[in-house]
Amino acid sequence: KRILGSGKHKLEVSALGLGCMGMSYHRSFVPDKKAMINLIRNAYDLGVTFFDTAEAYGPMVNEELVGEALIPIRKKVIVATKFGFKDGKPANGLDSRPERIRQVAEHSLKSLKTDYIDLFYQHRVDPNVPIEDVAGTVKDLIKEGKVRNFGLSEASAEVVRKAHAIQPVTALQSEYSLMTREPEKDVIEVCQELGIGFVPYSPISRGLISGYINERTKYVNSNDNRQSLPRYQPDAIVANWPLIQLLKEFGDQRGLTVAQVALAWLLAKKPFIVPIPGTTKLAHLQENMWAANYAFQPGELQKLNEDLSKIEIVGARYTGVQAEQTRK
Ligand code: ATR
Repeated sequence: KRILGSGKHKLEVSALGLGCMGMSYHRSFVPDKKAMINLIRNAYDLGVTFFDTAEAYGPMVNEELVGEALIPIRKKVIVATKFGFKDGKPANGLDSRPERIRQVAEHSLKSLKTDYIDLFYQHRVDPNVPIEDVAGTVKDLIKEGKVRNFGLSEASAEVVRKAHAIQPVTALQSEYSLMTREPEKDVIEVCQELGIGFVPYSPISRGLISGYINERTKYVNSNDNRQSLPRYQPDAIVANWPLIQLLKEFGDQRGLTVAQVALAWLLAKKPFIVPIPGTTKLAHLQENMWAANYAFQPGELQKLNEDLSKIEIVGARYTGVQAEQTRK
């Protein structure tokens, strides 16, 4: 178990949450809905109490799936969703106007088949709406009982501070993994200072840090965002292979898989970090969960970090508009 946030705005969650996006959006395997409902319920039986979705995954399709799966266990779990895109479609641009946030809250409550949202994140910072107005709107939704906690995603340290001054932030979600280390620059420190939880998404870099993806992998679904992201192109996969090799060597000596080493490394960084790996497979879910049991010996973590520091990652995680929308 881990705690996100502090004071009156904290949540107790499992050390690893479940990222549900890939069950209906942005990944190549399009799974059966019934199987995914079973997977979410199995995840709870295995100890997962933190489930992540967003209006934008569909729109609404993923929230509906998660909502249906959680009906029998609603009160025992923490469900996080996100607002912030026009009509819930990232392709249409950002929209965090107060009236829109309120509309998303109503839609999300309905899609999730619940009367409260445990954690309501702004999906991306909207430069056209002052963050104070966003925080104020979520504060009102909290007073009304529709939302319980406020979160931000891919926000800069400055935005986190400003938002937190209006409505205490429970969690900052951002991409963070052995391939995307930018949060180490300042936002993780700011979270520590302010008592905010940090939730890494794509903690195994959309499947790359497992060894299962290689330069021959085809992203078959036209909706799979990896097709256009520089880091998932064959040249970048080959260039970044030394990272996979290093993690494999480390894991092989300890009975850990590459994905488990990557997740254990994130968990060891800070006690307020709760990664949300995504999966559509029970075997991967079990494998990932097991990472929370691994405790590094002080010396071995230091050695691993030294070896990691010699590896340079090539290929940006995002390009174009998607890159512009991060860390604002
Ligand atoms: P995101 O949530 O953005 O997709 P992620 O959590 O870093 O990012 O990675 C999820 C991807 O890694 C998924 O495509 C998932 O595929 P499956 O549905 O086939 O599992 C894959 N993945 C997750 N856990 C894995 C594991 N233990 N081994 C191999 N691939 C894994």
